[in-house]
Amino acid sequence: VKTLLMTGVTGLIGRWTAAELTREGHCVVGLARGAAAREADLKRWISDHGGNRDNLKLLEGDLSAPGLGLTMEARGEARKASSIYNLGGHVRWDEDAALKRRVNYAAVVDLIALAEEMPTFERFVQASGYLIASDQYWSALRFTRRALVASEVQAEAAFRTLRRRKDMADTSNLEADILLRRRALSGFPVTIVNPAGVIGHSRTGEAQQLFWLEGLITGIAQGTLAVLPGTSRDWTPLVTVDYLAKFLARAPFLPWSTGEEFTVLRKESPTLLNLAKTIAEELRRPAPTRRAPVWLLKPLLRAGLDKVTGIPVESLSFINSFTFDTSTADRAADELGLTPPGDIEGSLRLSIRYYLAQQTRRGPA
Ligand SMILES: NC(=O)c1ccc[n+]([C@@H]2O[C@H](COP(=O)([O-])OP(=O)(O)OC[C@H]3O[C@@H](n4cnc5c(N)ncnc54)[C@H](OP(=O)(O)O)[C@@H]3O)[C@@H](O)[C@H]2O)c1
Repeated sequence: VKTLLMTGVTGLIGRWTAAELTREGHCVVGLARGAAAREADLKRWISDHGGNRDNLKLLEGDLSAPGLGLTMEARGEARKASSIYNLGGHVRWDEDAALKRRVNYAAVVDLIALAEEMPTFERFVQASGYLIASDQYWSALRFTRRALVASEVQAEAAFRTLRRRKDMADTSNLEADILLRRRALSGFPVTIVNPAGVIGHSRTGEAQQLFWLEGLITGIAQGTLAVLPGTSRDWTPLVTVDYLAKFLARAPFLPWSTGEEFTVLRKESPTLLNLAKTIAEELRRPAPTRRAPVWLLKPLLRAGLDKVTGIPVESLSFINSFTFDTSTADRAADELGLTPPGDIEGSLRLSIRYYLAQQTRRGPA
């Protein structure tokens, strides 16, 4: 039984993972904003989703604040953990690049410093992203990940260049990933998990947000998405949140997982065309059939078409025709006896239905 410090415990990936970890008997200490006011609700949610509420507590903290916003007392409490699960992040498509950098990158620097103060520290678990794990993605950016991991100077120059590029508003997640990989080379015990686009629970569709899909859903719902970005081979691989949470709760405890990365996705995920068709069917709206290349759409969206179509330009970066190496994740799943839920298309439908029901409940924006 371990004590784990978790960021992002109120978020989509964090709360489902906390439910799994507490069910397994581990104690989760969540770093959260407004901890005292949110603890009771989160404990209730954890019990309702099969976790053990008594194994969860929240500490007041803020990933955007210096020193993670922890008081001396809270920092003392956090130091008792033996692992850190960094599942927090600023993931909204907004222009606040400085805030994103603080939450997604500088907080990782602070968390590493905290880990170094932990007397029984064993493991740093980071939720990165499936694209970051792809060499094809890095060559599209015109950099080699290995070179940036090897050289801090090269990495700084590369990120300066990338930040200047108009299609790369934010590099904070990449920077955090490269930093952790570099630290792993010098023996810092990191396990990186690269989730695909996360959808809701495989059997209920429940998800706290389907943020990366919202642009597509809104565009089809409003009929403003006349053309579909990308080619007929393009896809955004998917993973259901329940499978991802089980994986995150178990794989980092495998003895060989130090220094490993695990890309967790379903290879049977639909192409973008079929994803759009499924959304359109659920909405009873026509599916867009015409295609336009991403390179053409990006400047148009940036020029203001994003407001008309409801598609944020950053969401286009998730569309790709890459293949991903899932071999370590497959091996871990095998050893752990984890079987991914069978029908990813069915889970996608349930997730869209759950999302639409939530939107109806919330009423018009
Ligand atoms: N969802 C996906 O499809 C996906 C795929 C690949 C990778 N990821 C990565 O996985 C991580 C978690 O994603 P998610 O989908 O679970 O996101 P999410 O639902 O938006 O959750 C983000 C979490 O981070 C917390 N957070 C944000 N800013 C904070 C701050 N200043 N101080 C303290 N906590 C803060 C949020 O707390 P509040 O409740 O206070 O806002 C929330 O708990 C992110 O790094 C994301 O890039 C996600």
